[in-house]
Amino acid sequence: MSKVLIAGGTGLVGKRLSQLLVEKGYQVAHLSRKKNPKAKYPTFVWNTSKNFIEERAFEGVEYVINLAGAGIADALWTKSRKKLIIDSRVETTDLLTSYIQKLKNKPKVYLSAAAIGIYGDRGNEELTEESAIGKEGFLVESCIAWENAIRLAAEQNGIRNAALRIGVVLSTKGGALPKMTLPLNFFTASYFGDGGQWYSWIHIDDVCNMFVKLMEDETTTGFYNATTPNPLTNKDLTKQLVKALGKRAITIPAPKAALRLGMGEMADVVLNSNKIFPARMEMAGFEFQHPEFQAAIKDLVLKKI
Ligand SMILES: NC(=O)c1ccc[n+]([C@@H]2O[C@H](COP(=O)([O-])OP(=O)(O)OC[C@H]3O[C@@H](n4cnc5c(N)ncnc54)[C@H](OP(=O)(O)O)[C@@H]3O)[C@@H](O)[C@H]2O)c1
Repeated sequence: MSKVLIAGGTGLVGKRLSQLLVEKGYQVAHLSRKKNPKAKYPTFVWNTSKNFIEERAFEGVEYVINLAGAGIADALWTKSRKKLIIDSRVETTDLLTSYIQKLKNKPKVYLSAAAIGIYGDRGNEELTEESAIGKEGFLVESCIAWENAIRLAAEQNGIRNAALRIGVVLSTKGGALPKMTLPLNFFTASYFGDGGQWYSWIHIDDVCNMFVKLMEDETTTGFYNATTPNPLTNKDLTKQLVKALGKRAITIPAPKAALRLGMGEMADVVLNSNKIFPARMEMAGFEFQHPEFQAAIKDLVLKKI
């Protein structure tokens, strides 16, 4: 049974990915900052400030997947929060690289999360992996630092490397969707600014299946956009969400100025426009299970995932 070590496996994507991997017959272990006696999977502790990964974490491991990182939208972007967002991605990548480099029996593959934030705010421009990266904003800055660390890992760890530039992951268990559905309980739905900005979304199972694709397809390497081929404007997405859930709601705009006032620079997370296409994944033959937004929402709700 092939073994997969997932760093940050306790998070939203990691939990679902672990479950799907086990269903496919893989053995899963997690790397976490803390031991949890109730953990579902064997868990090894690591600590970037001490350059430490628990002994035996890599024993028999064929695949390493790094999903670790402090939440982008969990707290306002103060100077120290920004540092944590970057450090928690760069330092975890560097630590894994230094350990893998020294292993006698290396894993076959190193995979990492990255993010579509790398493209910056791009209006109606259609973006693929061949497009230039963004020029300004903290999302661009942090994603560049993260991708530089991932590139360095690829140069130094001596194994195959690939990464997913992940879009807005849809799940009922966390991330953006529960925040979008909450106002529906009060018969309202909101879009942000003029609602014309593009959101590049993906069903959580499709992003997990993309990781499996990168594990199993030995020809894959480098960065891949992890979004569906059907991005939607914020306004359309809001309307389709209400429809998919069969709710009644008045759609109200949340003005840009109010968002900037409340969220500061972090409002970029909801105001940036990213019309992104998964060109490299499609070329590699990846088949989406949930390419249509309303069907994706219905599936998530039905399966409670
Ligand atoms: N969800 C999305 O919509 C989305 C979109 C684009 C990119 N991504 C990226 O995909 C990856 C996985 O996303 P996710 O939604 O599953 O993330 P998540 O739920 O926030 O989980 C990430 C995991 O990272 C670990 N972590 C948190 N803070 C850390 C820190 N300061 N230092 C080291 N590890 C830390 C935690 O594991 P322990 O507590 O066990 O250590 C946590 O479970 C992340 O890197 C995220 O940026 C996600």
